Amino acid sequence: MIPGRISLEGRVAVVAGGGGDGIGGTISLCLAQAGAAVAVLDRDADCARQAVEAIEAAGGRGLAVLEDVCTPEGCAAAVERTVGTLGGLDVLVNVVGGMGGQARWVVTEEWTDAEWDHILSMNLRYVFLMCRAALPSLRASRVGGSIVNIASISGTHSAPQHVAYGAAKAGLVSMTRSLALEYARDGIRANAVAPGVIRTPRGGRGMASDFEARLAESLPIPRPGQPQEIAGPVLFLASDLASYVTGQTLGVDGGAAVRYPIPVLGRSHMMS
Ligand SMILES: NC(=O)c1ccc[n+]([C@@H]2O[C@H](COP(=O)([O-])OP(=O)(O)OC[C@H]3O[C@@H](n4cnc5c(N)ncnc54)[C@H](O)[C@@H]3O)[C@@H](O)[C@H]2O)c1
Repeated sequence: MIPGRISLEGRVAVVAGGGGDGIGGTISLCLAQAGAAVAVLDRDADCARQAVEAIEAAGGRGLAVLEDVCTPEGCAAAVERTVGTLGGLDVLVNVVGGMGGQARWVVTEEWTDAEWDHILSMNLRYVFLMCRAALPSLRASRVGGSIVNIASISGTHSAPQHVAYGAAKAGLVSMTRSLALEYARDGIRANAVAPGVIRTPRGGRGMASDFEARLAESLPIPRPGQPQEIAGPVLFLASDLASYVTGQTLGVDGGAAVRYPIPVLGRSHMMS
């Protein structure tokens, strides 16, 4: 059968960090609009409520699940509540990540132990905790489970002052491949999306004022991305349209990662 429109009708998704109106909230809404019942897993009650209200306003079904995904207990409780209330689990999206409130972009020797642990916990360790808690339920899915991890161009490429964040996201890319190999025979696919620069309501803090102008100069698609431009690829990977795709990391970055890294214009760099 040739697949038609993207549908998650009858499926249950949990979106870790699915609250608010940034990348997470937009993914939650997008999955719900495709027909999934969505557990909005967030530690912030206001963020969770905002996303659930947006889902319900669009005619979908949302459930606020308030837990901290950085603890094994929080992950286990979130999966139990989702399965108990919504009747199963088919899709897990891990969105929580970033630099946290205390973000400092500094070189390696300036990172404290606590900062390193915090960034690794909220970008890598929790995904292991969430997957470990969710895998039995995903295995029981009648349609096959799907995991989508939000990585970053910082994990597929490198930048100065990214030692912890970059290492965590690179680890997430590797973890995604391991999950794909380990659970393919259980009908579970695992993929990642690696965003470039995405303009979010809370984003931009600490960015230089001319950042967007410099970004426009350097990117093939000359602008930052929008949260819905991450949600679309997540929906694709979560759905049956991607039924033969596993272990992949899809760059969603306006073409940033495909450019030759040394300035070359046609043959103009060659000696005549
Ligand atoms: N914005 C960008 O330019 C960009 C670029 C590359 C990658 N990313 C990645 O995209 C993802 C989303 O980033 P964002 O800043 O847009 O986030 P977001 O605005 O979508 O917010 C994520 C949600 O996670 C919740 N959360 C945070 N810690 C939590 C915890 N321990 N337990 C439960 N909930 C928690 C927050 O309350 C928030 O509602 C991250 O993984 C980030 O690394 C973002």
